[in-house]
Amino acid sequence: MNLLITGGAGFIGSNFVRYILKKYPRYKVIILDKLTYAGNLDNLKQFLNPDNLYLNKDYLTKYPHHLVDELKVSFPSNDFLFIQGDICDAELVGRIFSRVDVVVNFAAETHVDRSIMEAGSFVTTDVYGTYVLLEAAKKYRIRRYIQISTDEVYGEAIDFPSREDAPLNPKSPYAASKAGGDRLAFSYWATYNLPIIVTRCVNNFGPYQFPEKLIPLFITNALKGKPLPVYGDGKNTREWIYAEDHCRALDIIMHSQDGVGEVFNIGSGIEKSILDITKIILKVLGKPDTLIQFVKDRAGHVRRHAVDTEKMRKKFNWSPQIDFEEGMERTVRWYVKNKSWWREIKEKSKDYQEYYQKQYILRERTKKQD
Ligand code: NAD
Ligand code: TYD
Repeated sequence: MNLLITGGAGFIGSNFVRYILKKYPRYKVIILDKLTYAGNLDNLKQFLNPDNLYLNKDYLTKYPHHLVDELKVSFPSNDFLFIQGDICDAELVGRIFSRVDVVVNFAAETHVDRSIMEAGSFVTTDVYGTYVLLEAAKKYRIRRYIQISTDEVYGEAIDFPSREDAPLNPKSPYAASKAGGDRLAFSYWATYNLPIIVTRCVNNFGPYQFPEKLIPLFITNALKGKPLPVYGDGKNTREWIYAEDHCRALDIIMHSQDGVGEVFNIGSGIEKSILDITKIILKVLGKPDTLIQFVKDRAGHVRRHAVDTEKMRKKFNWSPQIDFEEGMERTVRWYVKNKSWWREIKEKSKDYQEYYQKQYILRERTKKQD
């Protein structure tokens, strides 16, 4: 199989790359990733060498590489290629699509809080970027295209757990942009009969998650003895799945002859509030509850997300294999063992520090004024 994984340098994408190449070492894999603040070559270190790495001119890196300008997408001489590029770049996307038969689109702007600060890049990547990929899928008759959507598209649901046919009421610019990409993908099946499947997974956690999302932020703050900023009353709940279980579900969907034109929820049935998660992290790390700091709530904060996964379980006989406690232990252990991975981001990235400053210092101040 010649497989394109977009967004493969991010959290779930890089877990998926590892999962696929371990299980199917003979697959040829191309990764297309813009390397935004969330994309990290260190997530894929084990696969990279100067021959299979193509980066932009302005990319300062410790990795020796070719320039994207020199790129000749040449299977079968390369079994693995990393290409730094934007899914909105139709010319580059076309060159890559002419060489692959299956596409899994993880590439996206993904952080709700960032989307509240600045929505433009979300609309561009998550909607327009998806359109560019779908057009290329049409032109090059891609054999299977998986659009990674999210349970956030259901927004503030009326009935729980949300089934795939529940109304979409996205509340944040992130969720609304993902809903745009989700429905656009569906329309390319309905209109052009392209072999497209849309998945809507719940909150993932595990190794390599960028340390500004709840779980890795709180683990790494706790390890440094810094406060854990809980939004509002901490009672908002999410459903949580270990990233490897998500990858296992995508593996099944990707290889099935069934399910084209459909949407599949992927979830675990495990719901926990922010405060539950916070206390679990503090307990596992042996840190005091005094690190909990209630801060101003997120605008438009969805109270609860939970999905019905009966369709996925029945059609594909899939169920998650890693229970929450086991997943949390593995995750905490990974962050404890890989301090240099997250310190590089938290202590050296200017973008991270500026974001943290804007997001949390303001939140703390406004909370005090409330
Ligand atoms: P992430 O932010 O960790 O990674 C996103 C990756 O996409 C990064 O490597 C980034 O560089 C790349 N990217 C961003 N814009 C791009 C562009 N224009 N062109 C090419 N690459 C670009 O995200 P994640 O948490 O790994 O999420 C992956 C996918 O799964 C997303 O589509 C997200 O909406 C979806 N999802 C995530 C979760 C979750 O809990 N993390 C849950 C459900 C669905
Ligand atoms: P997040 O990891 O941003 O994922 P999503 O918004 O996609 O669910 O947030 C998960 C939950 O944790 C959400 O209810 C918001 C909350 N949260 C905090 O309370 N404090 C934080 O610092 C962050 C990042 C999130």
